[in-house]
Amino acid sequence: MIICHKKEDLRRVVDGLRLKNQTIGFVPTMGALHDGHLSLIRKGLEENSRMVVSIFVNPTQFDNTSDLEKYPRTIESDLELLQTLSKDLIVYAPAADDIYGGTVSSERFDFDGLEDQMEGRFRKGHFDGVGTVVKRLFEIVQPDTAYFGKKDFQQLRIIQELIRKHQLSVEVKGVEIFRDKDGLALSSRNERLSKAQREAAPFIYKTLKAAKNRFGTESANKVIEWVEKQFAQHDLLKLEYFTIADEASLQTVQRKTKTKSYRAFIAVFAGDIRLIDNIALN
Ligand code: PAJ
Repeated sequence: MIICHKKEDLRRVVDGLRLKNQTIGFVPTMGALHDGHLSLIRKGLEENSRMVVSIFVNPTQFDNTSDLEKYPRTIESDLELLQTLSKDLIVYAPAADDIYGGTVSSERFDFDGLEDQMEGRFRKGHFDGVGTVVKRLFEIVQPDTAYFGKKDFQQLRIIQELIRKHQLSVEVKGVEIFRDKDGLALSSRNERLSKAQREAAPFIYKTLKAAKNRFGTESANKVIEWVEKQFAQHDLLKLEYFTIADEASLQTVQRKTKTKSYRAFIAVFAGDIRLIDNIALN
């Protein structure tokens, strides 16, 4: 496994592979790696000659300093895990300076309204931070294909928009949500859940599945009301938002039509730990 901390070193490695006509896949992460991340990397390994994985807790996408400080940083065990996956991986683990130079700040992006919904509404500046870091990572890594999880479906849509607007020559692939046996979507934040919170958390996906069944016959508003009621009665999980939106525009919708694809999106607090999930409704 090759580990680079500086972009010049990473560039040298990738340039060498390009000379040998190798294809490069890329999975950007913030570390605290779990099977969800690994599913993206595994897919990339099947489809590319070599894979680059970045590990960087990007400060500009956190709207809350406490969330940034508490974000798990487990670089040693992350590297061990990657090593067991494939000895051929190339890891880019930079310090903030390597990405941002002296000034750690976001560019401003216009993602045609995709950024105003859901995560963008509740986490101000979040997608400017994501757009900034992913654009820079793409410039540094210059991959053929980049893999993003549908766990962060809005992020995936925004990256597709970033590529379209800035005419970046990267293909983006979305990968299905990886869940634990009890349905909880894997997340680096799950590590911080108490035993009781962890036991309660599968309620999120259970409710999403029930909402999916209801959306067949009920309007979006009725489903939203029902979901809000389920969480109002819950001791450990507090609903931040639940919404039903068109997959392409991410605009909220009222009723199903046959021609479009819909998804339900949810954000929930367990104490101060924020969990998100979503489900396809078609
Ligand atoms: P992070 O939360 O570490 O996630 C890295 C990638 O793994 C994202 O594409 C995310 O959607 C995917 N992922 C996480 N959990 C998953 C799961 N249970 N199933 C499938 N995919 C999953 O997302 C980020 O980091 C950052 O915003 C980043 C893109 C790296 C920019 O800083």
